[in-house]
Amino acid sequence: IQKLEPIYSGKAKTIYTTNDSGKYISEFRDSLTAFNGDKKSEAPKKGYYNAQISRKIFEMLEENGIKTHYKGMASDVDMIVDIVDIVKLEVIVRNIAAGSITKKYPMPAGKVFEKPIVVFDYKSDEYQDPMINEDIAAALGVATYEEMAYLKETALKINSILVPYFDKNGYLLPDFKLEFGRVNGEIVLADEISCDTCRIWDKVTKESFDKDIFRFDKGDLTKAYETVARKLVPEIFE
Ligand code: C5P
Repeated sequence: IQKLEPIYSGKAKTIYTTNDSGKYISEFRDSLTAFNGDKKSEAPKKGYYNAQISRKIFEMLEENGIKTHYKGMASDVDMIVDIVDIVKLEVIVRNIAAGSITKKYPMPAGKVFEKPIVVFDYKSDEYQDPMINEDIAAALGVATYEEMAYLKETALKINSILVPYFDKNGYLLPDFKLEFGRVNGEIVLADEISCDTCRIWDKVTKESFDKDIFRFDKGDLTKAYETVARKLVPEIFE
């Protein structure tokens, strides 16, 4: 497969057309943004570690019956993906209170939820990704009620696979964000699952191994992502 023209550049990845009419290549870059793009930086090898962690998680989810856009790697940082029509919702699953939910509601950081919480945010830079409910999303034509029920059910299924997977590797998974896309009449998991899109805490020390290091200047981001990669994708260090 050959990378052709860049057609879209997001905050951390660039999408390229390819010589395969059904596939794009998603290139993971070293750039970082937070707070809706207000804070920007670069971290060496970040794209590489996230690409490899995301690849491994997509492969593991596929083995567990979750359909994804992932179709293989064209290089260390280039992921081959199905061309999908992205659903304009960010599906956020929360197991432990952290981040925005602790600002919006009286929920102390670190509170463990009895059951996972699923939230939809409207994916829009212009409107700064506001939280949305099913009625507003349906009125906007973003997704049907049936699709949203499927997104929630699939997000919970993914959570029930990811929590034990991270646990086995020594980490808690307080929350993470998923995106989905439509392809051939199906909804599949899209985008990435990486240290940029999850909160990953050391099980014992509760230390962050995710983008909160960048958001709140908590240390060496590359080193933290490398630590997670050593656990999840040890084969790339052999
Ligand atoms: O900011 P907030 O606490 O709502 O984020 C919840 C989770 O979703 C975090 O793991 C964060 O990294 C992820 N997220 C994301 N992209 C966004 C918003 C949140 O990956 N645009």
